[in-house]
Amino acid sequence: MPGFKAVKITEDVFWVGAIDWNIRDFHGYSTHRGSTYNAYLILADKITLVDTVKAPFKEELMSRISSVIDPKKIDIIISNHTEMDHSGCLSEIIRETEPDKVYASVMGVKGLNEHFSIEKEIIPLKSGDELSLGNMTLAFTETRMLHWPDSMFSYLKERKLLFSQDAFGMHMASDERFADELPADLLEFEGATYYANILLPYSQLVLNLIEKLKASGMQLETVAPDHGPVWRGQGISHIIGRYQDWATQKPTMKAVIVYDTMWKSTEKMARAIEEGLLEGGAKVKSIHMGASHRSDVAFELLESGAFVAGAPTLNNNLFPSMADVLTYIKGLKPKNLVGAAFGSYGWSGESAAQVDAYLKEIGVETVAEPLKIKWVPNAEAIEKCRQLGLAIASKMKEKM
Ligand code: FEO
Repeated sequence: MPGFKAVKITEDVFWVGAIDWNIRDFHGYSTHRGSTYNAYLILADKITLVDTVKAPFKEELMSRISSVIDPKKIDIIISNHTEMDHSGCLSEIIRETEPDKVYASVMGVKGLNEHFSIEKEIIPLKSGDELSLGNMTLAFTETRMLHWPDSMFSYLKERKLLFSQDAFGMHMASDERFADELPADLLEFEGATYYANILLPYSQLVLNLIEKLKASGMQLETVAPDHGPVWRGQGISHIIGRYQDWATQKPTMKAVIVYDTMWKSTEKMARAIEEGLLEGGAKVKSIHMGASHRSDVAFELLESGAFVAGAPTLNNNLFPSMADVLTYIKGLKPKNLVGAAFGSYGWSGESAAQVDAYLKEIGVETVAEPLKIKWVPNAEAIEKCRQLGLAIASKMKEKM
């Protein structure tokens, strides 16, 4: 194992995580830039490790810790999140480092014990609890369902440093450890993609938490998430502001058309709807599922106002790629969207109604009955599609 180095992120605090350059699928989310599993070492009187890493990266974690201290000197381990990208090697780390105490949130204790056989007692922490590290103090806030029941923030008071676990993170492997070392458009794209694919269903909780943090007067000089770069300086208020924007889901004049096609008829419909939307003043992002990933759709829907979905009928059913993306988006629970369903068919034509049912389950306000066109759309059918685009654009304007 190469001699990996820890990276100092502020006085007495080091990043000791792992870089996963190769991961391309994170429970259904396409991580085309890889990821990092961040863990942090606090060199307080009581040496404290905050989170661990995914199991195959244990040696990288140990190597980075060893570049600063003997791992056996770790006194305390804090688990902010039970998901296995942060706890997968926790049992082994406990066995090898023999810390005095291991802590997690109330739900974290339950979650960790249900995932692993951990012989050592894990001590529960509640919101408002504080833990003395001797010369420093950690304060804890449970952040239930952001995005797991066990999720917790740990705040190092003396360094004004928030360990925010998955929140404010992104899946991006890089050798840069700070957000201000990376291009702003890359951070925006990967941060939004992460929010859309991981945190969107919990947007009201995100808004509540940000209000709570602001009301608490918590001062922040560093925000250290469990994935991607560390935020400091002005980057902190920027990413918190963007979280508020993404969580609010204010409708825009951007429409997202998502479709698949067998013999290009549904695609012709999509193109004609697009023309109508453009004519009606909308901006359009058109996504062919044969050439795209479901997590790209989640990203595009994040700051949009319309979700228009189309599928051909295959064997009396919805085209499989559309069933995939609609199921995925349903789970993400986007809000404040209008839209419509469409699709071509040969003899039975169930798909448009099935897409429409999905849209309604998602909560999309549909502006028309599902539009189904037999075989190849003729001029009259194309005009119907264009009119549908115009109707969607008109409804989008009402919602602005
Ligand atoms: Fe990065 Fe929810 O695990």
